[in-house]
Amino acid sequence: VSTKRVLVIGSGGREHALAWRAVQEGHDVLVAPGSEGIEGTARCVGVAVRDADGLVALAKAEHVDLVVVGPEQPLVDGLADRLRAADIDTLGPGAAGARLEGSKAFAKDFMRRHGIPTAAASIVRDVADGCAALRRFAEPPVVKASGLAAGKGVVVPETFEEAETALRDCLERGAFGAAGATVVLEERLSGEELSFFVLTDGAAAVAFAPSQDHKRLGDGDAGPNTGGMGACAPAPRGDERVCARILAEVVEPTLVGLRADGTPYRGVLFVGLMIDERGAPFVIEYNVRFGDPEVQPLMFGAVDPVVGPFLAAARGELDPGTLRATPAATVVLAAPGYPGEPARGIPIRGLERASARPEVAIFHAGTRRDGHGGWCSDGGRVLGVCARGPDVASAVARAYQAVDDIEFPGARLRRDIGWRAR
Ligand SMILES: Nc1ncnc2c1ncn2[C@@H]1O[C@H](COP(=O)(O)OP(=O)(O)O)[C@@H](O)[C@H]1O
Ligand SMILES: [Mg+2]
Repeated sequence: VSTKRVLVIGSGGREHALAWRAVQEGHDVLVAPGSEGIEGTARCVGVAVRDADGLVALAKAEHVDLVVVGPEQPLVDGLADRLRAADIDTLGPGAAGARLEGSKAFAKDFMRRHGIPTAAASIVRDVADGCAALRRFAEPPVVKASGLAAGKGVVVPETFEEAETALRDCLERGAFGAAGATVVLEERLSGEELSFFVLTDGAAAVAFAPSQDHKRLGDGDAGPNTGGMGACAPAPRGDERVCARILAEVVEPTLVGLRADGTPYRGVLFVGLMIDERGAPFVIEYNVRFGDPEVQPLMFGAVDPVVGPFLAAARGELDPGTLRATPAATVVLAAPGYPGEPARGIPIRGLERASARPEVAIFHAGTRRDGHGGWCSDGGRVLGVCARGPDVASAVARAYQAVDDIEFPGARLRRDIGWRAR
C-alpha cells in the first residue's frame, strides 16, 4: 500500500491510538487539534474539532488522502458531509447517519422499524406522559436522555422513585439541556455487555474483534459511571457463535435499514450490546465512531493493516471481512477527582520506563508538558496504558507492570481490567 496522508480529528486517547496505528503502517499522519502528548507520534495542527471551515481548509491545504473523525459531536454536526462535499475521503457518517448516535429516540425507532433486537421502550417528551409510561413497566426502566450527553445521560435505577427523579431531571430540571428534552425509557436488560465495531461503506462490513469496556470507576464494577476505565479485546463472551449472531441479527439488518431509509453511511459503526445467557444479542445503543478506550487494544493489537480498509470504507469500495488482532488490553489512569472535577497539573513520572517495556504503548488522553521536560495531568482520563500478549490475561498483566512504573500521585485506576477474560 502506498503512503497516504491521513488527518485524524480529535485530541484524546482514541485519536492518539488511531494516529499511532496509521504511523506504524507507514503513513504520514496529521492530528487536529491533537495534544502535546500526541505530538510525539504525529504532527499536530491547532484546528478545533468544531471548526468545520478550518478542517476542510486544512485537509485541502495539506492534500490529505483520508480524514478519520474521532469524536461524535462533529459528525452529528455534519462535518463528514462538509468534507465529502469538498471531495475529501472521510471515515465517518454524515449528519443523517450520525443520528443513530445523536438521538437515542431516533435509534430506537430505527431499530423497531427494521426488526433489530433491542429492549422494549417508551419515548416521552413531558412529565405527565413520562410518569404514566413509567407505571407500565414491570421493573424500573433505564432512563436515557435522548441527545448527546457526553456519557452522562443514562441512569439505571433500582427503584421507580429513582427512575422518576431521573425523568424529572431531564424534562423539568433541564439537566442535559436540549439533549434531555426527549427521554427514552427502556426495559432493563441482563447479561454481559460487549462492544462491536465494524467499518462499513453502507454495503459491506469489516468487523474488528469484539471488545469490552469497563465503565464503572471501581473494581468489581462498583461506583459511578465514567468514560471508560479500561478495555480488552478479544472479549471471550464474543465467541465465534455470538459474533456470527451479531453480524446476522444486528449489523446486516442495520445496513439494510440504512439503505432502505436512503441514508448513506461510510464510517465506523459501533454497536453497544447486551448478550443474554443464551448468547442472543440486544442493542443497547449505536455509536457512529470508535469508542475509547476499546479502540486502544484494537489499534495496538491489530495484525491486519487498518488504514487500507479505512480508506476503502470512505471511498465506498470496502470488501467484507474480519480484521485479525493480537489480544491486547488498556488500563486507564484517571486524575484524582475523576469522574467529578479532575485535578490538573499533577506531576507524572516514569512514562519513558513504562513505554520502553516490550509490547507496551502509552496513549495520552489528558496530559500536558510541565515545562521542565516532564508531564502532568490535564484532564479526567489522563493515560491509557496498553499492552499486547498471547492472551488477554497476559496482556493485562503486562499493562499493570507498566502501570506500576508510572508515578502519578492520587491516580484513579481499576486493578481488575479484563477480569471476565482471566
Ligand atoms: N436497557 C438497558 N439495560 C441494562 N443496562 C443498560 C441499558 N441501557 C443502558 N444500560 C447501561 O447504561 C450504560 C450507558 O447506556 P448507553 O445507552 O450506552 O448510553 P451512553 O453510552 O450514551 O451513556 C450502558 O453501557 C449499560 O451499562
Ligand atoms: Mg454507551
